[in-house]
Amino acid sequence: MLGIETSCDETSAAFIEGSGENVSLRSLVILSQDVHRVFGGVVPEIASRAHLTSIVPVVSRALSDADATLEDVDAIAVTSAPGLIGALLVGVCYAKSLAYALGIPVTGVHHMEGHLFGTSLEHADAVPPFTGLLVSGGHTLLLDVEAWGRYRLLGSTRDDAAGEAFDKVAKLLGLPYPGGRHVEALARDGDPGRFRFSRPMVRRTDTAADESFYAFSFSGLKTAVLNAVRGSDDLERDRADIARGFQDSLIDSLVEKTFRAARLHGRRRIVLGGGVACNGALAAAMRARAGEIGGVVFVPSPRIATDNAAMIARAGLFHLERGECAGLDLNAYASQPIPGLIAA
Ligand code: KG4
Ligand code: ZN
Repeated sequence: MLGIETSCDETSAAFIEGSGENVSLRSLVILSQDVHRVFGGVVPEIASRAHLTSIVPVVSRALSDADATLEDVDAIAVTSAPGLIGALLVGVCYAKSLAYALGIPVTGVHHMEGHLFGTSLEHADAVPPFTGLLVSGGHTLLLDVEAWGRYRLLGSTRDDAAGEAFDKVAKLLGLPYPGGRHVEALARDGDPGRFRFSRPMVRRTDTAADESFYAFSFSGLKTAVLNAVRGSDDLERDRADIARGFQDSLIDSLVEKTFRAARLHGRRRIVLGGGVACNGALAAAMRARAGEIGGVVFVPSPRIATDNAAMIARAGLFHLERGECAGLDLNAYASQPIPGLIAA
């Protein structure tokens, strides 16, 4: 299966082999578009054009890295939603053309379902049933994964995504874009006791009947950081402490909600996905509480946590094996709910 991902600012292709849960990753190529750095964020038009020039060499490289040729490709999976529409269209048009030329099936994959599958490429036990936390630049989703293709959406963010909060706080602290890993590095030297921001949407009195029991919200935390930055008379001295206070608060909120979900659904596995899963402090905080559910926390490596085509190929294989393949009228959508949702 050839996977293709062009939903944001990474042009990626991957080649996987196998069936069922027995899948091996033969190659993965990720070309990150550096150009957006100067703008402090992704410029959609530039992203689309960069995908257009990179897609053919990226796919060729993924095939040659796997010692494969186009004849070895049995099917193609491509991210068809959600994402930047112009960027998605490049991948979808390319995938459909290639599938048509080779006479093989093509299937559209939801980017967040890809993140849900990604971790299983590296950890054979990161499979359902589990509690999934997907934390990226655009999404924060807490899911109960009963089986592949059967997801209960328990919580999501009411405003900013977790990665978006990291990126905005990075900007406030004068750090480059994307800022997640820079905030993490700065927070490492920070004093956890100096800036104690309240934990968003977490109260000791919360019960499962509350609407906000599993919900996230990070814009208030971002404003608290802004006020701390403005109120500082020596930002050089305070920067690391503010970064630490912010990160501790955000992580506490993610961890608390994830363990509520695991406990109440009797899950003994927690699977993280999305770019924020690269955060070592988040992984450590999750693992520190694993004993509570008598279970394990699975964390993907950075290349599988961030946007990549291997996770798209893996999710695509699942759908194809269920006989779900798209026609040549496969379209791209900027936003779309994750497929397979069942009542929470
Ligand atoms: O999943 P991803 O690669 O792209 C999206 O689909 O959005 O996630 C990118 C996000 C960015 O917001 C970035 O700042 C964040 O992941 N990120 C991190 C870290 N590494 C990347 N956030 C916190 N700590 C990190 N180490
Ligand atoms: Zn992503």
